[in-house]
Amino acid sequence: MTSVTSLFASVDTDLCLLTENLKNLVGARHPILYAAAEYLFGAGGKRIRPAIVLLISRATMLDQDITPRHRRLAEITEMIHTASLVHDDVVDEAEVRRSVPTVNSLFNNRVAVLAGDFLFGQSAWYLANLGNLEVVKLLSEVIKDMAEGEIQQGLSRFDTTITIETYLEKTYNKTASLIANSAKAAGLLSGVPIEFAEKLYNYGRHIGLAFQIVDDILDFTASTEVLGKPAGSDLVSGNLTAPVLYALEEKPYLEVLIEREFAQPEDLEQALALVKESQGIERSRKLAAYHAQLATENLTDLKPSECSKALVDMAEYVLSRMY
Ligand code: IPE
Ligand code: IPE
Ligand code: MG
Ligand code: MG
Repeated sequence: MTSVTSLFASVDTDLCLLTENLKNLVGARHPILYAAAEYLFGAGGKRIRPAIVLLISRATMLDQDITPRHRRLAEITEMIHTASLVHDDVVDEAEVRRSVPTVNSLFNNRVAVLAGDFLFGQSAWYLANLGNLEVVKLLSEVIKDMAEGEIQQGLSRFDTTITIETYLEKTYNKTASLIANSAKAAGLLSGVPIEFAEKLYNYGRHIGLAFQIVDDILDFTASTEVLGKPAGSDLVSGNLTAPVLYALEEKPYLEVLIEREFAQPEDLEQALALVKESQGIERSRKLAAYHAQLATENLTDLKPSECSKALVDMAEYVLSRMY
């Protein structure tokens, strides 16, 4: 399995600098905001999104160093991601994240909502200060998409009629939009032609879809200890992800259990068993692999380099998390 360490080797120094900078950027004038910022300070996050931004930045600036704007974009990307996690943990009532207590469990929901808003606000400020209107537009759309994704998910809880297409649309909003638009923005900051930037967008879109599908599989197959966040929580909260949507096609009784929201004892256990004995997980793995493959097909405009290779390997790494 490709480890994150070897994958990120060419941007390792950049990522260390990023962590340092985030501490200063977020600021910690208030103990509660400091708790929110703990997410950024700690080494708990995988930092996949800023790594992709930095790898694209380097892969498109081969003859020169990346600019402070590229670095700031990577920082903003991780800040937006973290803000969304602080809010997501409120929505999901999650108690641990990155193996530490969430802001909502450490304080309360009100504090977590405000802390997330603070991080979104800070990211908007730094975004505006990049002074590139196109990049501002791309990343502002992401913040809108993320909220829309959470709303779509919230409104379709326990809805067994949703299709894989609807699921993928929601997944784009929740997860892939940030990776796609920040990838494109990195290319624009390097001055690549628009067609090239669109390919970088599509790389990020497909990597993002694959990443969330894998996360949704891991919710069924991995342990809370390994994930550092609650496992097995999607189904119980009515968030019907790829493994369940596929399983529903073969196991009609699953629909009954979900429609009554697991009201009877053993309903949840039975539903989990039905998903596991169906082809749902395997078909989801194939769907993730399909998107990872499509992602790499968008990298053909990049000149060969260590960073462009790492971007290809990133697709493999995303898939390797499933096993
Ligand atoms: C978690 O993202 C949210 C999803 C989109 C699945 P990550 O798995 O990248 O979270 P961290 O940043 O590594 O904690
Ligand atoms: C991803 O969804 C959350 C965001 C993109 C904000 P999940 O609810 O699956 O994320 P985890 O599993 O809590 O990390
Ligand atoms: Mg969640
Ligand atoms: Mg999840």
